[in-house]
Amino acid sequence: MTDYFTTPIYYVNDRPHIGHAYTTVLADVATRYARLFGSDAFLLTGTDEHGQKVQQAAQRRGVPARQHVDELHLAFKTMCADLEIEYDRFIRTTDADHVAVVQGALARLKDEGLIEKRQYGGWYSVGEERFFDEKELVDGKDPVSGKPVEWVEEVNYFFKMSLYQTRLIDHIEQNPGAILPSYRRQEVLGFLRQPLADLCISRPKSRLEWGIELPFDSDFVTYVWFDALLNYLTGIGYPNAPGWPERWAEATHFIGKDILTTHTVYWWSMLMALGVDVPKRVFAHGWWLMGDSKMSKSAGNVVDPLALKDRYGVEVFRFFLLREMVIGQDASFSESGLILRNNSELADDLGNLVNRVLNLVEKRFDGAVPARGTLLEDDATLVGDADALEARVRDLTAALELHKALDSVVAYVRRLNKYVNDTKPFTVVKTDEARAATSLWVVLNGVTTVARLLSPVMPKTMADLLFRIGAASGVLVVGAPVVKGEPLFPKYEVPVTTTEAVPAPPAPVAPATATALATATEVSTGEFAPGPLLPEIEFGDFAKVDLRVARVVEAERVPKSDKLLKLQVDLGGTRRQIVAGIGLTYAPEALIGQHLVVVANLKPRKLFGLESQGMILAGKSGAVLSVVSPLAPVAPGGSVS
Ligand code: MSP
Repeated sequence: MTDYFTTPIYYVNDRPHIGHAYTTVLADVATRYARLFGSDAFLLTGTDEHGQKVQQAAQRRGVPARQHVDELHLAFKTMCADLEIEYDRFIRTTDADHVAVVQGALARLKDEGLIEKRQYGGWYSVGEERFFDEKELVDGKDPVSGKPVEWVEEVNYFFKMSLYQTRLIDHIEQNPGAILPSYRRQEVLGFLRQPLADLCISRPKSRLEWGIELPFDSDFVTYVWFDALLNYLTGIGYPNAPGWPERWAEATHFIGKDILTTHTVYWWSMLMALGVDVPKRVFAHGWWLMGDSKMSKSAGNVVDPLALKDRYGVEVFRFFLLREMVIGQDASFSESGLILRNNSELADDLGNLVNRVLNLVEKRFDGAVPARGTLLEDDATLVGDADALEARVRDLTAALELHKALDSVVAYVRRLNKYVNDTKPFTVVKTDEARAATSLWVVLNGVTTVARLLSPVMPKTMADLLFRIGAASGVLVVGAPVVKGEPLFPKYEVPVTTTEAVPAPPAPVAPATATALATATEVSTGEFAPGPLLPEIEFGDFAKVDLRVARVVEAERVPKSDKLLKLQVDLGGTRRQIVAGIGLTYAPEALIGQHLVVVANLKPRKLFGLESQGMILAGKSGAVLSVVSPLAPVAPGGSVS
């Protein structure tokens, strides 16, 4: 297998932030999974160094563009090193081989009559560096940034993109896996239902100097997107290096959802014109949000990924990024969310399990991996399930369902904990050493699989873990020495006040009012200050509200909404559908089986066309949201008063 994974190339007008970190870690983890399962996967990342944004950034610093990019691209290289990104090439669009590829492609398309000079007038957005059609504008503004656009008229060169509309539609319809997740495919098809315009691929030097000169007209430079997209071909040695076509056939582009049109419509029509196959897959991930808005430099709410990495360790940070974001959808970023994931899934579930088991191995088995002995039914099931887990993770990661893959591994770790609680090797060892040895072997065998399967996410920590449990080679060796050492994952205190939304239960909430939620939550940032208390009411008024415990039976996202979840809850025999605005904080899977408190006698109402037959209670302190749940289980339908 010769997989080929790419990240977008980053503009050097900005310091690296969580958005850049996420795509890069995502691509790195996908690459490492492919390698783990036998592929010689190639990872390409790099910087997008031409165009207006970069030229303006250089002007702001008062340095020549060339000096600016030579200095600032290093911030992205450093980010890669700091995030343990194992790329095969870091491409810069100012690299000589890339300039040659761009000029070669332009010359070829011009020769074939696919590029033409025309007088053109259009709505130009400086922020997005592109022209928009009238129909694309939203309220007369740039549909992406919401910034004003200006009418610009000039002579320019056009690539005849419109010729490819039907081929693009056919390709997308015939290759359901080409744009992932599948709902993104519909967006592109929707875009292609409108007539497709030709693409302006030049900028007059009078307006923009910093770019690759057109090989057939030295008064113009190349439009930055035409230049940038070709990096994916340059990166693997197109058109001359041996083996590039095989690699290209396995290409997966990871991108953010905001650059989907450029990566499908523009890019694929360019490839079709050049006679190169379109990539196997384009995967568009969602955005990391602070509150409910995308993090960006202009919004001034950028979390510095490297600061969090320094505080909690890069590998915990990588785990959090992949674990927290349901791949494809938006997720709320929060430091407390990271701490909670670390404390529960890494420190408690995995770290503590290893610690307990190695403690016993050190004390009672001379610090060496005990013999496997005879497996009873439960032992054999767990051992068999470790193999099944490996197969499942292989399939899920090949399908880029990394989030589900991690879910499965975390669930298996929980089962290992349950197995230890059930088989009690700590007690059994006093009466039946061989039985305790087998239990310990079963757990260590399971942890070996877990560590291997988490190694693409946390390479160094998992190598350390494998070493500690006597499985340094990735295979558990009976008799090998174990090393308990310091805890693998230190725990951290969750800050009491936070300016961020907290995901996944259990979420801490500062004392606040319990608010019924059925519509989108308002997520705001800033210090939490409780609102004023409401006027007093009679007990009789309160008694009219029928509060009940409900168990979540099913949960899924409401299509096209980041905030709404559709829940089916059990109210003790009756089922209700509730649409709740908690999707920025909770992944649907995290809620299944949870006991929540609902207002059961509220008149149904429609949200996004779906009937909501009740409301869920949740505590809110500023941006922090946490659903209300009884401390100990109460049977579904039980009253709350
Ligand atoms: N230079 C272009 C890409 C050219 S690829 C041929 C570009 N660069 S960028 O630096 O602005 O953005 C790179 C990526 O970061 C995009 O995929 C974008 O979606 C992602 N992110 C930027 N902010 C983000 C979040 N807050 N969350 C997640 N990713 C977002 O676009």
